[in-house]
Amino acid sequence: SVAPNGCPVSAGAAAFDPFGDGYQQDPPEYLRWAREQEPIFYSPQLGYWVVTRYEAIKAIFRDNLTFSPSIALEKITPTGPEANAVLASYGYAMNRTLVNEDEPAHMPRRRVLMEPFTPEALKHHEPVVRELTRMYIDRFIDSGRADLVDQMLWEVPLTVALHFLGVPEEDMDTLRRYSIAHTVNTWGRPRPEEQVAVAHAVGNFWQLAGQVLDKMRQNPDAPGWMQYGLRQQKLHPEVVTDSYLHSMMMAGIVAAHETTANATANAMKLLLQHPEAWQALCEDPGLIPNAVEECLRHNGSVAAWRRLVTQEAVVEGVRLPAGSKLLIVTSSANHDERHFGDADLFDIRRENASDHLTFGYGAHQCMGKNLARMEMQVFLEAFTRRLPHMRLAEQRFSYVPNTSFRGPEHVWVEWDPAQNPERRDP
Ligand code: HEM
Repeated sequence: SVAPNGCPVSAGAAAFDPFGDGYQQDPPEYLRWAREQEPIFYSPQLGYWVVTRYEAIKAIFRDNLTFSPSIALEKITPTGPEANAVLASYGYAMNRTLVNEDEPAHMPRRRVLMEPFTPEALKHHEPVVRELTRMYIDRFIDSGRADLVDQMLWEVPLTVALHFLGVPEEDMDTLRRYSIAHTVNTWGRPRPEEQVAVAHAVGNFWQLAGQVLDKMRQNPDAPGWMQYGLRQQKLHPEVVTDSYLHSMMMAGIVAAHETTANATANAMKLLLQHPEAWQALCEDPGLIPNAVEECLRHNGSVAAWRRLVTQEAVVEGVRLPAGSKLLIVTSSANHDERHFGDADLFDIRRENASDHLTFGYGAHQCMGKNLARMEMQVFLEAFTRRLPHMRLAEQRFSYVPNTSFRGPEHVWVEWDPAQNPERRDP
């Protein structure tokens, strides 16, 4: 077959399947051939151009006019009429938020919503994260075995996300139940028979988000990023629109929750697979901040992001017409030898680890990156201090098939509770 530019599609490009196990288990390894031989290729299966090297991806992020983020949350697998009818029946109207908003609308909105992300504002969240971390570890520390995802890493970042957004305590449980459907709806490939169930969950999530937002309007002085947005709406109604607020109420949960839960699950798997690195952190917690960056580089929780070409552009020597869609595989860029020496090596002391593109880059770079970093650091501090003797249990890691959000569904660990430092030295 041929690509839209008339060039033949190589065998590697034809075989590329971001929903298959190869990509799920290890995206940078799966795309090594492309980084080496064909740094941009057209995937007929996806209908996207796939970009794999560091400099090209950074340049794409840098130019958000030529490479629009408008398709970042578009369904990568279009759904059928039945699922679409279900979504419509819930009045589902997910629209632009920040991550998929074009200029000139995006920057003014980002600016008026930034304050709750400043280091000063984030300080208030650290005690909440520490307390939740303590409470969850207390529940399993004497049992000798735990699934870190099910027993902690799924719920703690979700609870932190809900606190950050300002969701009232009594609404947390229902929102928790529906948020996962959004990932499959946006970045996954649900089978036709699954699509309808996913659509119902997404529709419910949408309506709930709207109800919670209405409730917040009754008490706009309460703490929370959404309440901050409601107050900014009063001052800048054309910048902070109703459509934005409703969409962000839903997208914000996913942005803050799954990314961070997956990032920590990836990090714990990676660290426990490298006992010398784990040992070093246990002995010197001062190494944790850079280790977090190296985990985000080596095995980040966002594997790939998307951009739409708005005017003819050349990427890696290939001329792309307006309308071309790009899958920019940041996890591959993070293993590009041209930028990271000995790129596959996991090195918690790597000097340029924080150059990774897991948080994106440029005008849309993740606003929550310092919240995520703080959470991950607190988790690692607690695990290394309270369970330094834990190890990975025998297991095969599984992933929810999708292009972008990536983390093991379970991380089973074991330890001897008799050896818990708290027991020996309370
Ligand atoms: C944007 C990743 C945690 C809020 C993004 C983008 C990525 C990303 C890839 C798009 C960047 C771009 O287009 O250049 C991550 C990862 C996280 C994480 C890997 C955890 C390890 C969070 C948290 C929040 C958050 C905790 C808190 C609410 C946002 C927002 C944007 C964004 C609001 C949109 C910024 C804009 O378009 O101006 N994130 N994120 N993220 N993220 Fe995160």
